[in-house]
Amino acid sequence: MTLVLEGKTPSLKIREEIKREIAEYTSQGFRKPGLAVILVGNDPASRIYVRNKIKACRDVGIESFFYHLDDRVTTEELLDVIADLNTREEVDGILVQLPLPAHIDQNEIITFINPEKDVDGFHPQNMGKLVARTEDGFIPCTPLGVDLLLKHYGVEVKGKDVVIVGEGFIVGRPLSLLMLWRGATVTVCHIHTRDVSRFTREAEILISATGVPHLIKADMVREGAVVIDIGISKVGGKVVGDVDFESVKNKVSAITPVPGGVGPMTVTSLLLNTLKSYRRRMKVSKRQTVP
Ligand code: GUN
Repeated sequence: MTLVLEGKTPSLKIREEIKREIAEYTSQGFRKPGLAVILVGNDPASRIYVRNKIKACRDVGIESFFYHLDDRVTTEELLDVIADLNTREEVDGILVQLPLPAHIDQNEIITFINPEKDVDGFHPQNMGKLVARTEDGFIPCTPLGVDLLLKHYGVEVKGKDVVIVGEGFIVGRPLSLLMLWRGATVTVCHIHTRDVSRFTREAEILISATGVPHLIKADMVREGAVVIDIGISKVGGKVVGDVDFESVKNKVSAITPVPGGVGPMTVTSLLLNTLKSYRRRMKVSKRQTVP
């Protein structure tokens, strides 16, 4: 029987623990944790992601501060908003939804965010901490979500051959570092890889993060593999992943659904990172039951 690695149950479980921990702080008279979310423009997918993040914050008791900026905003104007948030006492986390419009230098924006509030984990200081394997950095939310999902279902990573398809800044690159940290032998396929299936067929854990719908077919997957699908695309009004779920599911031991797999875990990781920042800034200690 193939195990479907759905993310809603572990997400809910972790979110309940987060909620409990925050309720303890507020009952002691501490303020709520705060997350600032900046959305530039009106990309429909980004709007949905941002809405989900804000709702998840509300559900656990994190206060959100939403900044919806016009897509003609200048880099200087955006930097001004971030400069204010960088020093605001009640803001523990700052998230700038990506992608940004082409006229804005994404790297300049990310590097300007206070690394202590960079709950997306994209600042070079936090990416560096992922390389250095220091626990006090923020791990980007999707890689952390994958890590928590694998842990929840008892999938051992240490010593495994992990193949990641996609080397993007948000998922593939940081996830490859995290899987290395967890003891996997990691291969990363990308746009210049000549024969992707040569690698994917060998993967004990196959992770796809390309955004190409149904890129991964059954003949590209090893029998009994664990398959993690991070792609989200819309095909004919339906949300689909990178993996051709119907054909692949019969061949593997475990597979994430899309939607309802990694997605909820990504949002949960954002809540965890925001709580981590809050604890450090408020000098309060962690509940043992929270990851
Ligand atoms: N766009 C797609 N995924 C993400 C993410 O994890 N964080 C941000 N800020 N933007 C994204």
